[in-house]
Amino acid sequence: MKALTIAMPKGRIFEEAYVMLQEAGFNLPEEVEMTRKLMIEIPEEQISFILAKPMDVPVYVEHGVADIGIAGKDVLLEQARTVHELLDLKISECYIASAGLPNTTMNEIAPRIATKYPNIAMKYYKGIGEQVEIIELNGSIELAPMIGLSDRIVDIVSTGRTLKENGLIEYERIAEVSSRLIANPVSYRMKSERIQDLVTRLKKCVK
Ligand code: PRP
Repeated sequence: MKALTIAMPKGRIFEEAYVMLQEAGFNLPEEVEMTRKLMIEIPEEQISFILAKPMDVPVYVEHGVADIGIAGKDVLLEQARTVHELLDLKISECYIASAGLPNTTMNEIAPRIATKYPNIAMKYYKGIGEQVEIIELNGSIELAPMIGLSDRIVDIVSTGRTLKENGLIEYERIAEVSSRLIANPVSYRMKSERIQDLVTRLKKCVK
């Protein structure tokens, strides 16, 4: 059996995907030691997990240090990396939307858009014929319209609570997001049997 290295986002997605792999019949320990370890090896199944920041998962997979990975569609849309998207796991479902203060129109000259997704935002506004200035932030994006840094934000909406609690409303839904199984193109060829088996087994566990 060929060994597989899987890159996973730390935290909740890892836990959900780990349960899916157990349901798919992989013999994984019931209690995985969630200390601060960044690599977990499961010798019985010839699987190693690399625990990474969500934005970095496609980087590991593209460079082939991980054969496969679990990445959010948001990250895949933003980065456009050379990886194969194999399966929608339908976990961590949310969406990307534009939002802002209620009853406001955007500045006519170079409206400012705060986001941690500069490529997605740029593409979206270009598509609707708006020339915008992108202000890239790393988090707490909802602050930007409140303090006058931007006209709109482009960010993830899950429950909608963050928007609501900060007095913002959604303007347009831009893209649906969920976690996807991705593969390095070379690994996909070299370890095709193993990866195909994993996809077939996981497919049955997608809810
Ligand atoms: C994400 C996202 C929103 C929030 C949406 O932030 O950027 O701020 O979750 O979730 P909700 O609709 O359920 O309120 P995250 O928690 O990743 O933190 P961040 O501010 O560092 O991006």
